[in-house]
Amino acid sequence: MTTDPFDASAGVPYELLASLRSTCPVSRTESGAYFLAGHDDVLAATKDIDVFQASFRAAGVVVPPEEQLINEIPEPRHGKIRRIINAAIAQHRIGRVEPFARQLCSELLDRLMARGGGDIVADYVTPIPATVIAHLLGVEPADRARFAEWSDLVVQSAYATKNRREDGPEGEGLAGVAPDFAAYLDTMIAERKNSVDPPDDFVTRLIHTSVDGECLTDLEMRTQLAFLLMSGNETTRHLIANLLETVCSDAALFARLHAERDLVPTLVEESLRHDSPIHVLLRDCLKDTTVDGVAIPAGVKVGFGIASANRDERIYSDPDEFRLDRENARDHVAFGGGPHVCPGASLARLEGRIALEVFLERVDRPLIDESYRREPVPVFWANGPRRLPVRLTGPRR
Ligand code: HEM
Repeated sequence: MTTDPFDASAGVPYELLASLRSTCPVSRTESGAYFLAGHDDVLAATKDIDVFQASFRAAGVVVPPEEQLINEIPEPRHGKIRRIINAAIAQHRIGRVEPFARQLCSELLDRLMARGGGDIVADYVTPIPATVIAHLLGVEPADRARFAEWSDLVVQSAYATKNRREDGPEGEGLAGVAPDFAAYLDTMIAERKNSVDPPDDFVTRLIHTSVDGECLTDLEMRTQLAFLLMSGNETTRHLIANLLETVCSDAALFARLHAERDLVPTLVEESLRHDSPIHVLLRDCLKDTTVDGVAIPAGVKVGFGIASANRDERIYSDPDEFRLDRENARDHVAFGGGPHVCPGASLARLEGRIALEVFLERVDRPLIDESYRREPVPVFWANGPRRLPVRLTGPRR
């Protein structure tokens, strides 16, 4: 068993996390990083933005301010950029996404069912968030597949992982990691700015949204658009994959959901808690501080144990059990907390719900391959199965 709470390379180390919660809720790892395992400590730390700042990059790597991702930007600038993005999202109304997502899920599943099943992560789950977010941003249908590939490239690159490539230039921005992606976003912005009749999409809204008289610069827009794609894609994919793995592994649960469709939102919530798509958030500690009586010095990395917090026995009884009768099902921190709490939570919940509803409408009986063993995805902060081979019978209409 691993002794490193950050290490989910063989799956989230729930046993280790449980033992940390009971014996050492604020611990120091061999590499010198600190790890918060308890729900209340994690939630309080997400609010302590003067002390803990989001950190994807290796220590000492600095990018120009316009290339800082929204979750790295200090206040008060963060608040302003967030209000601009939220205003643009609100104007665009996520409700309009529902019919699009439903149609997309139906088409993907019909194709898969015509083949009797397959790897539902590759052929059903993965295209859902990538296509929905590309649609929301206003990407041409023909370019959506490229968009999804760029998202994976950037998420798995030094741009957004804890380890910078040794040979990479210092502080490389998006153009250094994925030049075609950066150029594509620049073109989307320029085309809409120069058009007399731009499409009614998120990019157009973003260009024209101002807060306190200020709009984002082109480079800030490109940075935040790329981040929206990445953050909406990798995470929601794991939510849907975890949900489907749960229902496909449990025939009684599957039958119950067929009879009680209104349980779907509860199932989505319990999946977010029990199988948090982000298992850890990484922070830089900016000032000497104390958490739960443990001194944490400035300059170290600190992990917020999201998956651990969501199985904290002081908040949830039988935390390792997947249950649909929890009264406090929404007390989880799967979407973080404080000023950086996920602005895409309702979109993610909507996609999870629709992906499952369409699956229930069409599939009679899913059978996971007998040889299936869960292999975690290769992104250090993410928690989802790499593949899920399932035989599907239906269609059910
Ligand atoms: C199940 C799916 C999702 C999960 C589990 C998730 C989780 C999170 C978490 C934990 C944070 C806080 C990060 C931090 O404090 O450092 C966050 C922030 C963020 N998420 Fe999500 N997210 C999901 C889906 C989405 C979607 C669909 C979008 C976009 C449409 C999105 C956009 C963002 C953005 C822009 C931030 C940064 C907010 C800020 O720093 O102010 N997320 N998300």
